[in-house]
Amino acid sequence: MDFAGTEQEGESIIFSSIYKQYWEIGFKTRLYDWLSPEVYLESLQRVADSIRLGKGEWVLDVGCGSGLLLPFLANRLTRGERYLGMDILPAGLASLKLRANRLNLKGSVSGVQADLSMKLPLGDASVSCVAAHFSIYTLPEESDRRHAYQEFGRVLKPGGLLVTANPTHSYNAKQIIRASLESLRSQRRSWVVKKYGVYPLTFHLGLKYIEKQLKCGRWHGYRPEELREEVERAGFAIEHSETVYGGSGFLVVGRKS
Ligand SMILES: C[S@@+](CC[C@H](N)C(=O)[O-])C[C@H]1O[C@@H](n2cnc3c(N)ncnc32)[C@H](O)[C@@H]1O
Repeated sequence: MDFAGTEQEGESIIFSSIYKQYWEIGFKTRLYDWLSPEVYLESLQRVADSIRLGKGEWVLDVGCGSGLLLPFLANRLTRGERYLGMDILPAGLASLKLRANRLNLKGSVSGVQADLSMKLPLGDASVSCVAAHFSIYTLPEESDRRHAYQEFGRVLKPGGLLVTANPTHSYNAKQIIRASLESLRSQRRSWVVKKYGVYPLTFHLGLKYIEKQLKCGRWHGYRPEELREEVERAGFAIEHSETVYGGSGFLVVGRKS
């Protein structure tokens, strides 16, 4: 597999042009990477910790964006595990490619442009793990999310893992910043620059915007148990679930039976 487009006809109307521009600007300017709060990175670390792969096996990162998950898998990818990033936006895939080059992971990383609300451009049982970190929630309709989970089940090998994290119904931008600053302080890492220089932008340009979309239902915030139930209904056995992202995200790990 290499960085490639797909045969999919057009894009879903769900992914309207306003959201497209929101992510696109973030990826092109790299603001998306710079402004990511600490607890978001910790959530990515938890996803990486949950991924189980053998040598030569693939993880599919659905809605990979700029490939923020990649650094958390870097050591393993140099030892023969393989990564396929999938996103609807070419700008995300371009950033993923640059990141892979910077990390010297060119040989283990591929990218494909596709819409997760449609049939995925992969064969049945072709990957060992699907990671979907804060991407499914952009599908507001339950039927579209159900279709996406079914597609994950189709492309996963028997016994393969789905690791997904999504925002909670009670997503709280202020709490995400608070938790990020606490985390930086407890790690004795410099938080002054983040507090006064970075996080005000994170709050106003990123988190508040997302909070607003969740509140008005344009994106989906999960109630407790709901993410587990959706994953279970798609035929996965739940192996683990936890709260992440400073209390504003749920992470669920399911195994394809
Ligand atoms: C919040 S970002 C998460 C990116 C990455 N997973 C991370 O954790 O940094 C959401 C991503 O989902 C992608 N996305 C949204 N709707 C999509 C769709 N219908 N098909 C594929 N990707 C989609 C966006 O382009 C964006 O890259």
